[in-house]
Amino acid sequence: MAFDLFFGREPVQDLAPGLRLARGFFDEAAQRRLADEVAALARAAPFYRPHMPNSGRPFSVLMTNFGALGWVSSVAGYRYQPTHPETGAAFPPIPALALEAWERLAGVLCAPQACLVNYYAPGARMGLHQDADEGDFSAPVVSISLGCDALFRYGGARRADPTRSVRLRSGDVVVMGGPARLVFHGVDRIYPGTSGLLPQGGRLNLTMRHVRPPRD
Ligand code: SIN
Ligand code: MN
Repeated sequence: MAFDLFFGREPVQDLAPGLRLARGFFDEAAQRRLADEVAALARAAPFYRPHMPNSGRPFSVLMTNFGALGWVSSVAGYRYQPTHPETGAAFPPIPALALEAWERLAGVLCAPQACLVNYYAPGARMGLHQDADEGDFSAPVVSISLGCDALFRYGGARRADPTRSVRLRSGDVVVMGGPARLVFHGVDRIYPGTSGLLPQGGRLNLTMRHVRPPRD
């Protein structure tokens, strides 16, 4: 396993080419500040339960978004849009602490346009999928974990590729870029009771993405 950069308490690990894990990037004080900011912003952009395209089945996670564009799923399909699907309001800006993770770990000059926020209550999970709705894959996906531990599964660029899993903890940041930008990934489960960060328990994930090429 290659180690090259040190952010947070531990070195950044290469899980696979282009797939990097910055363990403990956010210390406990920063996790608290970021979790409090997410809670405050979620008053303006409330969590809602999205539905799968076609089948209309509900997701087990709740979602909201921050930033210029939000990733939205409904029976009509997946899309990016500038407004909250339930309130119709613009999404609040991406928290500065989250942007700091992007700036230090993404290795690109462009800023993220979207920050999807997933909330996992005990029992929630996220099926294996690719982040492939963006018009530009040159920037990585930067994904922050807060709250309870999660079993994160990742594979290759084809769904049938073999997978491995790693337990993510509060304060960890995963980067999927370059050869790993389109890897299949998901969350098999969370481990309830492993963190007291969130008053309601469970886990938050903030996924930042660059959505459109600069000329758009
Ligand atoms: C996602 O891929 O949308 C979520 C990943 C995570 O919760 O760690
Ligand atoms: Mn994803």
